[in-house]
Amino acid sequence: MLTKLSVIGGKASEDLARRLSRKIKANLVKSEVRIFADGESKITLSGELSKRKTIVVQSIYPPVDTNLVQVLSLISRAKEKSSEVIVVIPYMGYARQDREFLPGEIVTMKVLGKLFKGAGASKIIAVDIHSMVGLKHFTIKTKNVTAIPDLVKYFKKLSLKNPLVVSPDQGGKDRAKEFAKEFGTEYIALEKKRDRKTGKIQIKTKNIDVVNRDLILVDDMISTGGSIVKATQFLKKQKCKRVYVACTHALLMNDAEKKIRRAGVTKIVSANTIPGKTSIVDVSSTIAKAIV
Ligand code: R5P
Repeated sequence: MLTKLSVIGGKASEDLARRLSRKIKANLVKSEVRIFADGESKITLSGELSKRKTIVVQSIYPPVDTNLVQVLSLISRAKEKSSEVIVVIPYMGYARQDREFLPGEIVTMKVLGKLFKGAGASKIIAVDIHSMVGLKHFTIKTKNVTAIPDLVKYFKKLSLKNPLVVSPDQGGKDRAKEFAKEFGTEYIALEKKRDRKTGKIQIKTKNIDVVNRDLILVDDMISTGGSIVKATQFLKKQKCKRVYVACTHALLMNDAEKKIRRAGVTKIVSANTIPGKTSIVDVSSTIAKAIV
């Protein structure tokens, strides 16, 4: 067994795990996954694990439950070999289920807390978790790091005209504020209403002055694209110039990307917490800083 740090790269986060292992000079252990006909994951690790500390890296994006079971299995194996198991969940699926919004709803983040602990995790590191409320349900150590400085670095390279940072909703106001501060510009937050039963989204903000300005819509995640589409349609009506999107987690379910482009977005820029076409901002250095 190694004394050096090990990183286990889950199948959902192979590239990020490889980058992270290089940054922290750890031994990378890859996982091979075979999905059985009934949907079960058969995981095989190749390589030795540190007896001191192992870092498991796996995002929980779709197929969410499959990736969740895989990360729990990786944690469990890591704990058999290493005394400390740090778990990096770059994208935390279920983070939006952090409270009982409607009577009877199950707070699945509470369940995740128990599962991670039970599997053997010593600490969880998330990136731009939807809300800190989710991590409050965990009884092991947790840390949330932000991709905002990495995203801002990318946007600073673009020549934007009189840029303004916009949050599509009030819930994202602090995120937009942080982005704007790092970027050195102003920010605003729109008023969004989502029907909790139908999922229908409406922008309630009336008129704002964004005429001829380049806008950066900042959000933690894009799932169906509904929030970004509605916000972009509204902002275009207000006669803004170009609309860019900066988000940490681009799930871009179904035809979300197409809908967003059709609404008039010039470019979507996301972090590599979820691999994909738009995931051009690397957060491995930010995660590395939280580990060492
Ligand atoms: C909502 O509060 C979140 O910050 C995101 O705006 C939302 O989850 C994105 O989902 P969708 O792309 O489906 O609108």
